[in-house]
Order: sequence, then C-alpha cells, then structure tokens
Amino acid sequence: MAIDTCIFDAYGTLFDVTAAAREAASEDGFEALADTWAAVARDWRDKQLQYTWLRAVTGDHVDFWKVTADGLDWALEANGLTDPKLRDRLLQLYWDLSAYPEVPDMLGALKDMHLGTGILSNGTPEMLQGAVTSAGVGRLLDHVLSVESVGIYKPSSKVYDMVGRAFGCEAGNVLFVSSNGWDAAAAKGYGFRVAWVNRTGQPVDRLGQMPDHVLDDLTGIPALVKAI
Ligand code: LAC
Repeated sequence: MAIDTCIFDAYGTLFDVTAAAREAASEDGFEALADTWAAVARDWRDKQLQYTWLRAVTGDHVDFWKVTADGLDWALEANGLTDPKLRDRLLQLYWDLSAYPEVPDMLGALKDMHLGTGILSNGTPEMLQGAVTSAGVGRLLDHVLSVESVGIYKPSSKVYDMVGRAFGCEAGNVLFVSSNGWDAAAAKGYGFRVAWVNRTGQPVDRLGQMPDHVLDDLTGIPALVKAI
C-alpha cells in the first residue's frame, strides 16, 4: 500500500455546506427562505470561496469566519433577505455544520488500517473544532490543520506544505480528498495523490491537472486506499 496518510478538505467534503440554509428553511420564522434556500446556499458558497482566492492574491488576509460572514451578507442581499435573525441563525448553523452520513464509518475504517488521518482546511481552528465536535469524529483524526497557521488560503502551496510538516510524510504517499475541483487540481499539482469527490456530477475543472480518482461520495475511500 503506497498511501500512509489520508487528508481531507473540510467544507463541502466532510461537512455539507448546503445544510445550514436547508435546515434554516424548515424552521419557524424563516419561511422567506423556503423558495430561496438553494440559491442562498450557492451564492454564499461562491462568494465565500471567491473572497478566499482574492485575499490570497492580494495578501489582505482575514480569517474564514469573517469571509464566511461577508459571503453570507452578499448572498442575503442578492436574494432580497434582510432579517438579522436569519443571518444569525445561518451563521450558528454553519458553526455546527452536519457531516455527510458516511464520514464516521469511513474515518473509522482508515484508522483500523493504521493510516494517518487529518483535515487540511481554510477554516479557523475554532470553526473546525466546532464542526468536528458536532460530527463526533475528533478521535478519528490525528491532526486538524487550519490555514490560520500560515495566514494564506488554498491553493497556496504554503497550505499543502503543512501536511508534510505535521505527519512527516512524503507528498507521494498522501491521498488528498476534496470535493472542490480547484482544490483537487492544486493538490495534484503539488504532488499528492488525489481523489475528487464529485457528488453533484460537475464537469472537471480546467486547471491543467486531473484527479487520480473520482468518487460519488466518501464511502469508497478505504477500499481505494487498499487498492492503490
Ligand atoms: C476548506 C474549503 C476549501 O475546507 O472547503 O478548505
């Protein structure tokens, strides 16, 4: 087995970034979200990511909680939503974001195989701790690595460098798992072996790097590692 370390992106990969808007839409008082939650979730995610890339280019870094709130403010205004209680509720739900259902068993299987496991994410340490705790998977992860240690967002290579430092592993022995096509492409260019989790049947990003493996969800990760 060539892989000794499995590293996961957090938001969109282990944790469902659409869950906050979907859950708020079903709660009393937020009926205004019923027809728009999917658009709000998409706009929120798009702006959040755009702001990380732009701040990485300009060097004007602020943490992911600020970028997440800024992206939400743009998305709410774009969709004609002005209720401050809705804003607060969406941010609260984002803090405790649900993990995809297969995550605990998948991580447990990797630990049974004695692999190093970790998260490498744009999230702040506090946000990641919140999500990991609410998913109950903290004991299945050796390291939860936040870009706040290097002060720049993905896809800076300074972020991917954190994996080798934390685990003492070679890039070629790492399976990097992300549902973000641009993150998968950058990680492949960096030298990791890459599995792209394409839950929604998106086209592959045209960034000059192809993922080694494409999966529908995370269930097949342990079998994939065994087969490599
Ligand atoms: C992360 C974002 C990219 O967790 O989803 O780093």
